[in-house]
Amino acid sequence: LHIAVLMGGWANERPVSLMSGNGIADALEERGHRVTRIDMDRSVAARIADAAPDVVFNALHGVPGEDGTVQGMLDLMGVPYTHSGLATSVIAIDKELTKQALVPAGIPMPGGRIVASEELHTSDPLPRPFVLKPVNEGSSVGVAIVTDDSDYGNPIRRDAAGPWQEFEHLLAEPFIRGREMTTAVIDGPDGPRALTVTELVPKSGFYDFDAKYTDGMTDHICPADLPENITKLCLDYAVKAHQVLGCKGTSRTDYRWDDEQGEAGLFVLETNTQPGMTPLSLVPEQAKYCGMDYGDLVEAIVAEALR
Ligand code: DAL
Ligand code: MG
Repeated sequence: LHIAVLMGGWANERPVSLMSGNGIADALEERGHRVTRIDMDRSVAARIADAAPDVVFNALHGVPGEDGTVQGMLDLMGVPYTHSGLATSVIAIDKELTKQALVPAGIPMPGGRIVASEELHTSDPLPRPFVLKPVNEGSSVGVAIVTDDSDYGNPIRRDAAGPWQEFEHLLAEPFIRGREMTTAVIDGPDGPRALTVTELVPKSGFYDFDAKYTDGMTDHICPADLPENITKLCLDYAVKAHQVLGCKGTSRTDYRWDDEQGEAGLFVLETNTQPGMTPLSLVPEQAKYCGMDYGDLVEAIVAEALR
């Protein structure tokens, strides 16, 4: 096949996308496919039309690329592409819209609300500890955990470094103490299948951008050592989220679990429609645990796009 691997672009996650995209392109070439690597810019539609690939492998992360823009463009062009479609992408990139879709389907997610950054300088939106995050970023870009000991001030000082300086609106959620996990889902001819559960244990702080992409900064426990009922809930919620959102190819659902609260302490944080494919990423690691190497995984995602 002739496969155009779309990567890079101008999202905050550009460097992550380049790592994913080049890894995918290398694997596809090794499997004998003809690959065109496309670093997305404003002329991307013309460049894809020129290349005339059989399929586009979307290796973009963040906005634009994971948010429906590129999906809509490819729909109009009539070019098949990997991963989720337009409507799913629009909803899943937005952590607040995701809640509106998943909570009524019985998937527990933390409460919270959207706050204007301005508001933070006069009062705390929630009792501390709470988390502030942009609604539509990935890789923990712009995430801050506000605790009683934070030196942001109380309320948050205008000049303190944090996402309130860059983003006009933020999602405020109660911080869930305890453990962090993730589950990948892969589509196949028999429908979506949850792979396993990985627990992420950062060596210090939380699983932020550096902890995600610096080798050795986070232990990945795959499969996670969890009570059977919690493992089962993670697998079930991941498949259900994939189905309710209408994800395609693959998705990855992230959790926090307050282990002092049993099942009631398990919360979905979000579902990622364009999960990372870097050497430290979680979907390839879970696929490997299930006997699928990186090349098999990439081929399976392409096969779904053409099915
Ligand atoms: N946003 C990153 C790429 C992930 O979900 O893995
Ligand atoms: Mg994410």
